[in-house]
Amino acid sequence: METVVSGIRPTGHLHLGNYFGALKNFIKMQEEHNCYFFIADYHSLTTHPTPEDLHSNIKQVLVEYLAAGIDPEKATIYIQSDLPETAELYLLLNMNAYKGELERCTSFKDMVRKYPDNINAGLLTYPVLMAADVIIHRASKVPVGKDQEQHLEMIRNFASRFNRLYNIDFFPEPYAFNFGDNLVKVPGLDGSGKMGKSEGDKNSVNLADEPDDIRKKVMKAKTDSGPTKDNQTKPDEIQNLFTLMELVSDKSTVKHFDEAYNNCSIRYGDFKKQLAEDMVTFTEPFREKIKELAADNDLITKIAKMGAEKAKESGVTTVKEAREIMGIRNL
Ligand code: TYM
Repeated sequence: METVVSGIRPTGHLHLGNYFGALKNFIKMQEEHNCYFFIADYHSLTTHPTPEDLHSNIKQVLVEYLAAGIDPEKATIYIQSDLPETAELYLLLNMNAYKGELERCTSFKDMVRKYPDNINAGLLTYPVLMAADVIIHRASKVPVGKDQEQHLEMIRNFASRFNRLYNIDFFPEPYAFNFGDNLVKVPGLDGSGKMGKSEGDKNSVNLADEPDDIRKKVMKAKTDSGPTKDNQTKPDEIQNLFTLMELVSDKSTVKHFDEAYNNCSIRYGDFKKQLAEDMVTFTEPFREKIKELAADNDLITKIAKMGAEKAKESGVTTVKEAREIMGIRNL
């Protein structure tokens, strides 16, 4: 049995990228491993959400985690800030995290480019906080999408540096994990980048979306004027729709449209209609469950409390030991 950790920022609804990149693996892993899944509310503060939005998004993500199949009896589900020892471990790790390596991180560089007026210290040290999240439970596996691969490499550096500096084998070096071998990148609907890249909703299909919203979003997805030569390479925006179809549709459906593309008989209207219907069918059980759970405040509060207690059992001990290793001991 291994220890597994992963988290999701509470920025709104969970989308198919979150599901296929991370959650689907969580759900399988909880059956046989010691799993911790948390809601990364400290991380969300780097982008300054309003307190009201952050608060309601935390609840929403918890509801959607549960609706997607995370079982609080099998896994520990908690809110990151309910384990404030994470913040202490982050402080300790920051002493051995260097400006140069943090500035080279791709996600930091993206944020600098996108939001030049908000280059805060929390953004720079974002991977250090992620390292604290993972190694606070001394986890070895982290189910995440492809976009988190570089962060995992940085986490391994911080963990192994700690071990080296204090000459101790304390933190395991955790690896990004996916049952299908390769880490997944689920494309968005706008023809560029990954699902969830642009904040706002047009690019993503959410587990909670109503059928008509899914249909509208998919029908608006960008396409081109159609193939003109047999077996030509698909441009990105078309390939992305096929990638999405592979996730939610039958193999025979994908094959049908692939053949139609290859012999130039494809009609994008039919193709998108089919993709939308398969997405509606795929999300239906989640949608129903989300509505049901969102109405049960007592249950959600109880689960958050239970998760916080279980997370503390493991996290408090790790941080106490890390302090002692570094020389912060009782006189
Ligand atoms: P976040 O909140 O952006 O995304 C949560 C999870 O969903 C995956 N994901 C995707 N996978 C494939 N294709 C996509 N289009 C897609 N969009 C999102 C992400 O890879 C991630 O697994 N920094 C993290 C949260 C975090 C964390 C951690 C994760 C904080 N501490 C410790 C793991 C371990 C983040 O912003 O993910």
